[in-house]
Amino acid sequence: MTFPQMRIALPQLASNVATMAKWCSANGVELWPHIKTTMCRPIVERQLAAGAAAVTVATADQAAVAASWGCRRILVANQMVNPIALQRIWRLDAEVMILVDSERGVVLAESAAREAGVITDVLIDIGRRGGRTGVRDGRAASTLAQRIRASRALRLVGVSAYEAVGPEATSREASALAVVDDHLRRAADVFVELVTMFETERPVFTAGGSTFPDRVVAAAAPVRAVPGAVVTLRSGCYIVHDHGLYQRVSPIAGLVPAVTVRAEVLSTPESGVVVVGAGKRDVPHDADLPTVLGAFDARATQRKRCRGTVAALYDHHAVVRLAEGNWPSGIWWTWGSRTPVGRLTAGRWWRSSTPTGGSSTSGRPTSSGPRAQSTEMRAQSAEMRAQSAEMRAQSAVSAGCRPRGGSGADPDRSASGSCCT
Ligand SMILES: Cc1ncc(COP(=O)(O)O)c(C=O)c1O
Repeated sequence: MTFPQMRIALPQLASNVATMAKWCSANGVELWPHIKTTMCRPIVERQLAAGAAAVTVATADQAAVAASWGCRRILVANQMVNPIALQRIWRLDAEVMILVDSERGVVLAESAAREAGVITDVLIDIGRRGGRTGVRDGRAASTLAQRIRASRALRLVGVSAYEAVGPEATSREASALAVVDDHLRRAADVFVELVTMFETERPVFTAGGSTFPDRVVAAAAPVRAVPGAVVTLRSGCYIVHDHGLYQRVSPIAGLVPAVTVRAEVLSTPESGVVVVGAGKRDVPHDADLPTVLGAFDARATQRKRCRGTVAALYDHHAVVRLAEGNWPSGIWWTWGSRTPVGRLTAGRWWRSSTPTGGSSTSGRPTSSGPRAQSTEMRAQSAEMRAQSAEMRAQSAVSAGCRPRGGSGADPDRSASGSCCT
């Protein structure tokens, strides 16, 4: 066995798929999951099978991969400014929607659509001051809507917002929720104001990551009153959840962390500090540093007194400060990310994924760039599909969460209390 490894606990993954599908249906919203979280075909297939009506992606490359997997409705949740990328999405065997937030974005989409001889569905992206993309006020949205309507190459089909940007997105304190709610309310107001401008009977209001889906549902109340309106959530990280940010802020009961990373202690250079062989390339993070879940000996028995926190992440190393004692070199440990490892590293982990048997699957990071990975990901997807079949066959065993194999207690089980390997 070599390290580092990313491990996906499939029972937890399946449970998250089911929990989210149920939550969306109970709250009257469609799920268009952001599949950048995993970019993994068998996982996306599970999301679609559970009722996802479309998928969301961030780039033309991701849209092409999704289309090659058979996704037939794809939202690129970005304004696209590259004519080559625009031409590319229009060649896909899928209905592709894009966002715009400026005259420039409209002009580019329009001229590329004209050249390709297609009519493109666009949604207006509503942002907030100090946030990320998106028009900042209703007047700008209205001007853009008129411009889109005047174009024969573009069709205005809805309004989009992404409320989970900035420091507010990391807590549910009243001040943070006020910012989130204000953003969503303005987006919903724009939707209602533009109601006569939409060029479809089923206009779309789309928002939401995995942190504030409840606020999206609440803010979308006036949208829902519009006949034919469709409210969609684009949550992606719910699928693997995490051991930090999402666990702290997600309002959806029942989501469980499904991803862990295992790595070895490489060096014990000073008392109270160990250096572990996994770093930014293996567990990049966009919120807090990863959480140490536990340390294990070669027989996979948890070392009860080994506790620590990540003090620094380098390319391939993590410096862990120990709460007490010292860890021997060679011990391995597992950590849970504070934003899903999968969202940030998925493409890197698929190439050398090796079946571990049982109900989780693991991979080692690749060294190639994102483009080179699409073929690898496809190959890996085939491999993972084969594993899925095997996993289904084993689900009776997994359901009881009994550790399999002879290497002692299951570390993920000990660490998270829930995984079976
Ligand atoms: C535009 C957009 N929509 C949806 C999402 C999904 O949010 P989450 O990763 O919290 O599920 C993201 C994530 O970054 C995003 O940028």
